[in-house]
Amino acid sequence: MIIAIDGPAASGKGTLSRRLADHFGLRHLDTGLTYRAVAAALLANGLPLGDEGVAIEIAHNLDLAQMDKSVLSAHEIGEAASRIAVLGGLRDELVKLQRRFAQTPPGAVLDGRDIGTVVCPDATVKLFVTASPEARAKRRTDEMVSKGQDAQYAAVLEDLKRRDERDSKRTVAPMRQADDAVLLDTTEMDIETAFQAAVDIISRARGA
Ligand code: DC
Repeated sequence: MIIAIDGPAASGKGTLSRRLADHFGLRHLDTGLTYRAVAAALLANGLPLGDEGVAIEIAHNLDLAQMDKSVLSAHEIGEAASRIAVLGGLRDELVKLQRRFAQTPPGAVLDGRDIGTVVCPDATVKLFVTASPEARAKRRTDEMVSKGQDAQYAAVLEDLKRRDERDSKRTVAPMRQADDAVLLDTTEMDIETAFQAAVDIISRARGA
């Protein structure tokens, strides 16, 4: 069983995906981390983000088990990840890795931007998780403040809108709801309600 979860930044898809993987006894891959890991390696070595040859080589040698979410969640790494995500050859390399993960028993939950459209077009169930930019900005701001970070709602909102624009307007594998994905709008939901809604959608799809 493969569950594909796509959606914009701060939509709650990460938390949801982890919980769904636990619930259904599946493995979980946050594919955003693969883009972040490549971006972080380029930044750490002072290499230009447009150097696709080096980016592909880093991706080729990427060890998913070594990706450290706490390090890779830094804001500047997310920005750099969104920039290198326009490189088609790099995406091909990362998609190979992501598909290998997805196809390893007992199956997996993958979350990202192009899982239902490109990485796993034959997934058992596809969800597109979204929420209004304002709701996402509020959640992201609250999360950062709770970690003791300095966060301004207006700046976070602008940032999310910019990221949405770049991720959905790029020519290669743009963020898009797959034709056969179920839309889950969590604007008015807390995480528990969103989780229950997702479990219902997946259970129905499995039964069908
Ligand atoms: O989900 P995230 O914020 O960790 O993702 C960081 C960037 O990586 C995101 O802005 C776009 C890119 N990305 C992508 O292009 N395709 C994916 N499947 C996952 C992430």
